[in-house]
Amino acid sequence: MEVLHTAKGTKNEKYEVLKSQLSALWSGESDPIANMGNMASAIKHTFDFHWVGFYLVRGQELVLGPFQGPIACTRIGFGKGVCGTAWKEKQTQLVPDVELFEGHIACSALTRSEIVIPVFKNGKVVAVLDVDSALVNDFDEIDQMHLEALSREISVFFLVQNFFFNSIFFPRYTLRAVSSAASSSGVPLFIVFPSKRR
Ligand code: SME
Repeated sequence: MEVLHTAKGTKNEKYEVLKSQLSALWSGESDPIANMGNMASAIKHTFDFHWVGFYLVRGQELVLGPFQGPIACTRIGFGKGVCGTAWKEKQTQLVPDVELFEGHIACSALTRSEIVIPVFKNGKVVAVLDVDSALVNDFDEIDQMHLEALSREISVFFLVQNFFFNSIFFPRYTLRAVSSAASSSGVPLFIVFPSKRR
């Protein structure tokens, strides 16, 4: 059984520990659903937030993906609620008090503040990360910075889905996609080309 040792200390320190735990968990796995599942669990257990999870873009709707916490709404329309707004605006939505956000969708009456971060693939939103707290004003720019960085790492897993198929049939596209993800996420990129057989 895997055990997550949650860190003590400042919020920044907790995020640093969380990042290294997630890097270890992700090191042997590239499936975005599996990695989103562990990410939701690790965030929830580190900070004891009320609800942490992903909604996945499916056509014109967001559909509930991997999450930790109470049962939640399964579908959210484009531009609806905080999640649909993050999708439409392609921008993080930091909501200090959900009662002041017009159109907020109350999947749980206990949620008082939330932050929603879009996950991109080739410039398109493919999912959103939704983190909900039972406390008013529980998120700030520190949460935003770290959660956005983690979400950029999840983007890479979406990008390398079917990587082998893509790299065989669309090598230029694959190379461009990987390098654009790497540069936007700040991840240093090393590409090794196999030498030609003589
Ligand atoms: N509050 C979100 C809906 C999702 S749940 O809270 C899990 C929203 O307004 O989009």
